[in-house]
Amino acid sequence: MGQTKLSGIEVCVFDAYGTLFDVSSVARGAQDALGDHWQGLSDLWRSKQLQYTWLRGLAGHHANFWQVTGDALDFALTTLKIDQPGLHERLMKLYLSIDAYPEVPATLQKLKDAGLKTAILSNGSPAMLNAAVDNAKLGKMLDAVLSVESVGVFKPHPDVYRLAASHFAVPAEKICFLSSNAWDAFSAKAFGFRVLWCNRFGQAGEHIPELPDGEIETLSSLPDWLLSQDTGQ
Ligand code: LAC
Repeated sequence: MGQTKLSGIEVCVFDAYGTLFDVSSVARGAQDALGDHWQGLSDLWRSKQLQYTWLRGLAGHHANFWQVTGDALDFALTTLKIDQPGLHERLMKLYLSIDAYPEVPATLQKLKDAGLKTAILSNGSPAMLNAAVDNAKLGKMLDAVLSVESVGVFKPHPDVYRLAASHFAVPAEKICFLSSNAWDAFSAKAFGFRVLWCNRFGQAGEHIPELPDGEIETLSSLPDWLLSQDTGQ
């Protein structure tokens, strides 16, 4: 066996939204209705969606991610004064056919071919995640699609990260967790996973515990971190 940058990894666990799936593809899909507002709506919708997960978690008022996503969309539409009949329903439906980033299928396939296990661990509800996975034809490349709904609280609660370790019955340090969401990457590291932050958007690091093991720009370079060079994989 040759050297790897992260050794001893048995399972790769991926965040879904922003990491495997391109959140901006949802509003972009309704660009004909949104015009120049699509990007602003997309950004506000996403940031409010995440805020609502944290607010509900702190207050102990859990609701599933479909509900939270719809509530955040209503907030964003009202703030931007966008009022078009049927637009809420259209955008929510588009969430179910969200685009995967282009490198995702080949990367997952390389990991599977090398004998690693792969999974999603996401705030998404099971129905949302299954729809996105089916639409992107990723089902055969994933050993598990794990939703926070099993524990009833959103990331970054440690119970969410624990779900992946207990599902695969491996110690946390044998899991490599991937997220483009810095707060998720840093929090997963604080839980005990090995973590690569897929910093797609060139963001600054968070000032919360703890630093990820490394940073990559897209998932294309993930196999270089995990697979030994002398296997040609
Ligand atoms: C998820 C959110 C954090 O998929 O993007 O869990």
